[in-house]
Amino acid sequence: MGIHIIPLTRLFDISSMVEADYTDFRKRDVSISKLQHEQFNLNVIVSKRKREDSSLSKLYDIKKYLNSADFSFNTEYEKLIPQDTPPYLDNGGRYVERIARALHYFKQCALIGPSGTGKTHIVYLVAELARLPLWEINCGLQTSVFDLFGRYVGLGKENWIDGQIISWCRYGGILYLDEANMMKQDIATRLNPILDARGHVVLTEKDNEIIPRHKNAYLIISMNPFSVEFAGTKPLNAAFRRRMSVWLNFDYMSVGQKIDEKEVQLIIDKTEIQKSIAENIVKVGSELRKLYKTGDFPYAPSIGDLVNWAKLIADGSSVKESSEETIIAMTSDDIEVQASVRKIVNAIFGHNQ
Ligand SMILES: Nc1ncnc2c1ncn2[C@@H]1O[C@H](COP(=O)(O)OP(=O)(O)OP(=O)(O)O)[C@@H](O)[C@H]1O
Ligand SMILES: [Mg+2]
Repeated sequence: MGIHIIPLTRLFDISSMVEADYTDFRKRDVSISKLQHEQFNLNVIVSKRKREDSSLSKLYDIKKYLNSADFSFNTEYEKLIPQDTPPYLDNGGRYVERIARALHYFKQCALIGPSGTGKTHIVYLVAELARLPLWEINCGLQTSVFDLFGRYVGLGKENWIDGQIISWCRYGGILYLDEANMMKQDIATRLNPILDARGHVVLTEKDNEIIPRHKNAYLIISMNPFSVEFAGTKPLNAAFRRRMSVWLNFDYMSVGQKIDEKEVQLIIDKTEIQKSIAENIVKVGSELRKLYKTGDFPYAPSIGDLVNWAKLIADGSSVKESSEETIIAMTSDDIEVQASVRKIVNAIFGHNQ
C-alpha cells in the first residue's frame, strides 16, 4: 500500500496510467515519480496490487535464482521497484530466467543488442519479478560524477547526499547501466572497484569512506553492438569486459527476410487489424531493421513502434498517411532517408494503401 499526494486534476492522469498500453511502461514510471516529488494538496490512497498474485510470476520462473522473499528494502527504495511491466516475448530463449541466473551466480551480466530489442524492458521485468529496486543510469547522457556518487549540499559532514551509484551500493537492488560503452572515463575509473562482485566504493570526497557492495546489489549493463561501419558506437571499456561473466545477445524477432509469426500475431492482438496488413507492417519493420544494422539508417523500429503504426491504421488512417506520422518520421529527420523509407513502404504495400 502506498500513499501518494496528488491534486484532484491529476486523478485522471492516474487512471490513464493504469490503462496505458504496454509500450508506455517507462513513461508511466516517470510520471509516477514526478507525482511523488511535487507538492500537492489532496491525499489520495492508491493501493498497489498484491505482488504475489501477479500474473507475471506465473509466466517466468526465477524464484530459484532470485527469490523476492529473500529481499527486503525500506519503503523509500521499494518505490523504485518497477510495476506493471508487460511480458517479454522471446522465442524460447528464456532470457528472463538467464538474466536471473547470471545475477544469482555472478551478481552481474551484460546485455548486447541493437536499439529497440527490449533490453531495457527486460531489466524492468526482472526487477519487478524479483522485487528489487531499479537504479537506472544512461551512460550516454552527460551525468556528472556528483550525481552518481554524491555531493555536499552545505557545510558540514551531515550535509552529504549520496548519488545513485552510492545508494545502490549501500542499499542494494539492480543498478542498470544503459549504453555502458558510452560511459565517461572519470566515471568508469571510479566504478571499477565496485564491479568486482564483492567490491566496494571509496568516497574520496567524504573522508575516504569505504562502502562495501550490499549483498543484494546486482548490476546489469547494456549496449548496442560495436561495429566499425556503425557510427556512434564504441567498444566496451576493458575493465567492464573483464568483470562480466555472462553476455546475452538480443536481436529483433523479425529482421531482413526472417518474419516471425509471433510478432505479426502480437500486432493483431494489440490492434485487431487484418492479418495481411500486420504481415506487411512487420515486413517493412524487418527491412528497416536490416538497414539499421548495416549502418544505412539511424534508427530501427521496435515491436512497440510497429504496434503504434498499426493502431493508427486500426483507427481508420490509411497506410500511407499513418506511415508518414510514424515509421517514416521516426526513422530520421533527413528527407533523403525519409524518402527511402517511403519507398520501402510503397514497395511492400503496393496498391494496398
Ligand atoms: N521481445 C519483446 N517483447 C515485448 N516487448 C518488446 C520486445 N522487444 C522490444 N519490445 C518493446 O519495444 C520497445 C523498445 O524496447 P526497449 O526500450 O526495451 O529496447 P532497448 O533494447 O532497450 O533499446 P535501446 O538500445 O534503444 O535502449 C519497448 O516498448 C518494448 O516494450
Ligand atoms: Mg534501452
